[in-house]
Amino acid sequence: MNPHDASVEYDALASLIDTVESPDDAMAKATRSTMLTPRFYTTDFDAMDRLDLTPVRAEWDAMMAEYEGDNNHDHFQRDAAFAEEVREGMATLSPELRQEFLDFLISSCTSEFSGCILYNEIQKRVSNPDIKALMRYMARDESRHAGFINQALRDFGLGIDLGGLKRNKAYTFFKPKYIFYATYLSEKIGYARYITIFRQLQRHPDKRFHPIFRWFERWCNDEFRHGESFALIMRAQPQLLSGANTLWIRFFTLAVYATMYVRDHMRPLIHEAMGLDSTTYDYEVFRITSEIAGQVFPVDLDIDHPVFRAGMERLFRHAVAHSLAGKRGGLAGLLGQAWHGAGAALTFARLYLLPVKHRALPSQARVQPVW
Ligand SMILES: [Fe+2]
Ligand SMILES: [Fe+2]
Repeated sequence: MNPHDASVEYDALASLIDTVESPDDAMAKATRSTMLTPRFYTTDFDAMDRLDLTPVRAEWDAMMAEYEGDNNHDHFQRDAAFAEEVREGMATLSPELRQEFLDFLISSCTSEFSGCILYNEIQKRVSNPDIKALMRYMARDESRHAGFINQALRDFGLGIDLGGLKRNKAYTFFKPKYIFYATYLSEKIGYARYITIFRQLQRHPDKRFHPIFRWFERWCNDEFRHGESFALIMRAQPQLLSGANTLWIRFFTLAVYATMYVRDHMRPLIHEAMGLDSTTYDYEVFRITSEIAGQVFPVDLDIDHPVFRAGMERLFRHAVAHSLAGKRGGLAGLLGQAWHGAGAALTFARLYLLPVKHRALPSQARVQPVW
């Protein structure tokens, strides 16, 4: 494929989705770790144990009271209409859209479970009472989220063995500050993604092809609060948010945005079915995330810069061409992968070097989920 093509042919994309027909296929998809799939993380637990929340004590205690109140304790239960809506909705999906939806469920379940494992592991390994309590609450929430999605997969006979996944998937070590940047972003992006879908389907209920989307509004408030927790942890350590560390903030923000852009553009049908377009949807999610991140990140990517937008598109085309070359195999395949891997790296570097916007942090860190 020529990376300068105006658009990527859908047929090329369809050939890249690994079809899921059996629980083994679902498990294989969840277990795979690539640049684009959700990963499992581990970290330096002793450093986590030493965190001091004194500088944000009042905001921290208010947040912990919200976790304690557990306003979503009764949310992740199906209602009477659920099964019938699944039956009706799924009958309307083409086989291609069905595969994209399964891909969406499996990657969402894996990423919810990734949070569950990391938070639970930290909870077990620290004695610092603030961090221990926080991690226990967040693991509680993520286990409900992963379980609820897995139940939806089980409707198709494709439930994932989460215990097996925990044992068999590779773990990536991130030191705590990278965990804070990356997890903060993924929690806030999770909120922005869920609320954008929820609002769209609230306006267009005829496009809600599966009942799980009805749960997204209250669900995403959990993700929002998880993001708030990491915001406070970072605000308690101002050195993480200034000086050379702003280069890491730029790096993680770009990496998280780029991964999301490429992944979402690989499954265009699911957005189309909701009456969304992948690009518009992604920029709406970036816009919300960037706005929220003003609570903690003093630098913001210029997402409306024409070079930014063109670069994201180029990254997507390189990723597609890279995967197609991998499928082709042989020497030509290897050369193609090397060529497009280098192209993607250069594009990423070009995006990284774009000027960023600077902003002052507000005196109070916390923001409300008003989107
Ligand atoms: Fe979650
Ligand atoms: Fe979360």
